[in-house]
Amino acid sequence: MTKARERVLSGMRPTGRVHLGNHLGALDNWVRMQDQYDCFYFVANWHALTDDQDTSAVPRDTLEMLADWLGAGLDPERSTLFIQSLVPEHAELHLLFSMLTPVGWLERVPTYKERIEQQGIASPSYGLLGYPLLQAADILMYKPKWVPVGVDQVPHVELTREVARRFNNAFRPVFPEPDARLTEIPKVPGTDGRKMSKSYDNAIYLSDPPDTVVRKIRPMVTDPARKRRSDPGNPEVCPVFDLHKIFTPAPEREQCALGCRSAGIGCLDCKEVLLRHLAPALDGIRDRRQTFAEKPDVIVEILHEGSKRAQSVARRTMEEVRAAVNLTP
Ligand code: TRP
Ligand code: SF4
Repeated sequence: MTKARERVLSGMRPTGRVHLGNHLGALDNWVRMQDQYDCFYFVANWHALTDDQDTSAVPRDTLEMLADWLGAGLDPERSTLFIQSLVPEHAELHLLFSMLTPVGWLERVPTYKERIEQQGIASPSYGLLGYPLLQAADILMYKPKWVPVGVDQVPHVELTREVARRFNNAFRPVFPEPDARLTEIPKVPGTDGRKMSKSYDNAIYLSDPPDTVVRKIRPMVTDPARKRRSDPGNPEVCPVFDLHKIFTPAPEREQCALGCRSAGIGCLDCKEVLLRHLAPALDGIRDRRQTFAEKPDVIVEILHEGSKRAQSVARRTMEEVRAAVNLTP
């Protein structure tokens, strides 16, 4: 008998094609965790309703995102890949948690305040306030040891731990407290030098064909002080160099830095070196994602299978939960 592997759970909202920032910030880490853990990864499509009630793009965005997950190396044989709304047990657990959770806890969650301010939401929905509580249900349902997330999600995992304690005290100990597993997120600038983001239109996508990647990297913003080829530059303030730090092996990267500081190389030369390392890193992922993108029915099948597997875990948890809550004769 092999020792039972520790469980991992994480999710993403179905935002469509995955870019390099999402990949290096989350997906790549999910892929690596498969070697060591029993992983559950899901599409948070109910959470997507807090962004937009126009759901017309959600099914297609789910398929696009899954093609990227699979292209990046998530393996449905080893990991359970599923859709939140196909496991309605999450909603029941969320409802029970909502009875235990003071509104003040939710009002204090930073992402709630940020979204209200940044998006100028005048009358926030009940669901937006409850967003992290639904997340707590997503997580605790599977009793994972680890929740791999970026720093912005740490308050949600903290809340999840508090909700678990609250439930365990009110009824009986059902939920172990999970830990956030911080993804070391490298700085991934977009082509305009700002943080890579779908909404800034500065992203490189895992699905971008090779010539698109070249077309995006060539005009990419560099050290703004390096106006002419003869001006020396400073790699430490250059977004292109941030990408070198991720993709280019150290010796060659140092040569670029040297050439930059002495004006020995031009920015285009420097970008060619980057492309030589970036392009092959993307090729494998793109080819694999393409074979899946051409077979949406295979993706749907994977998600239905995974959701069945997830649901059998969720049913067991809910049996324990219902027994603990003890409402029916
Ligand atoms: N809130 C997460 C995000 O925006 C998505 C999410 C929903 C999630 N439920 C989760 C992440 C459970 C980890 C675990 O990225
Ligand atoms: Fe950036 Fe390279 Fe140009 Fe230097 S040479 S400014 S590191 S792109």
